[in-house]
Amino acid sequence: MTSLKFFQKILNWFHFHGRKNLPWQIKKNPYKVWISEIMLQQTQVNTVIPYYKNFIKLLPNTKILSETSLDTILNIWSGLGYYARAKNIYKTSKILKEKFCNKLPNNFNDIIKLPGIGKSTAGAILSFGFNLYSCILDGNIKRVLIRYYGININDKKLEKLLWKKIQSLTPIHNTAKFNQACMDVGSLICKKSNPKCNICPLYNTCESFKNKQLLTIYHKKKIISITTKKTWFLIVQYHTRIFLEKQNDSKIWKNLFCFPKFSCQNKVSLWIKKHDIKINQTLALKNFQHALSNLKLYIIPIWIKINHHSIISKNNKLWYDLEKPQNIGLPKPIIKILNKIYL
Ligand code: ADE
Repeated sequence: MTSLKFFQKILNWFHFHGRKNLPWQIKKNPYKVWISEIMLQQTQVNTVIPYYKNFIKLLPNTKILSETSLDTILNIWSGLGYYARAKNIYKTSKILKEKFCNKLPNNFNDIIKLPGIGKSTAGAILSFGFNLYSCILDGNIKRVLIRYYGININDKKLEKLLWKKIQSLTPIHNTAKFNQACMDVGSLICKKSNPKCNICPLYNTCESFKNKQLLTIYHKKKIISITTKKTWFLIVQYHTRIFLEKQNDSKIWKNLFCFPKFSCQNKVSLWIKKHDIKINQTLALKNFQHALSNLKLYIIPIWIKINHHSIISKNNKLWYDLEKPQNIGLPKPIIKILNKIYL
């Protein structure tokens, strides 16, 4: 008996064990696939699910999306991180309206030009959204291939080589099932640590399994240096309102709203003086850490209540009403503090 081919093993496995009921797989369309794939970039499935459901509930199609402000999209995205993705969705919605009659294009050349869509995401949209033949090569699939073929991860042409491999493996029929199956094997079985080789459909032809090299070869770990930064947040509360500023040049939270933030305590006092603020009450909040991809923020919140103020809501300055919250984007640590002070 001839041994089964890679795609046959993968498809057989998918039939019994693959993920077929993720929210974006139900009543699927190109729009839902696009939004889910952007959310799934750099983010785990379980984290994405509630954000995805809320996004689709509020903005169910490209037409409604194209009439939505960036602040509203960022509001829905608040807490999910990597906010450039939300901005790219906003930009893409305008392009879809102007150039493609509010429809996602169904060909690689047009789709790859849209903001935030790389080769692999384009492949996912075309195969899952349009049922077309198109390959995917995300981080999980890369790891499967590297292990399966025992590829040297230091190979200078690694990326090119992996694309070649996946192109030679992807079947013309059942492309979407094959693509989903490869992602599922990568994330559920061929994990970075503790891969579950005993239940892997590919184990008997896997080079790394054969050579007992599973944990020595896998997708290259990026070495990133993480710096720690202290930040003082000044939470100014006037009755039910909190003073927030839009981050225009901030790298991490561009276009989101934040409390006034400072690199030292002295600057907090100067700001209070400059705005002629009379503090009515100072309240305690615990310091905490917030980790970003290459930065650890040590946040020191200072919460003050005031009875008078002369700061007007304009030019990216806003009195955020805790009782009637405006549709704006808020970073996770800001949401955390707002939830604490508005019990
Ligand atoms: N990551 C990216 N796309 C995915 C999908 N369709 N299913 C599960 N994980 C994914």
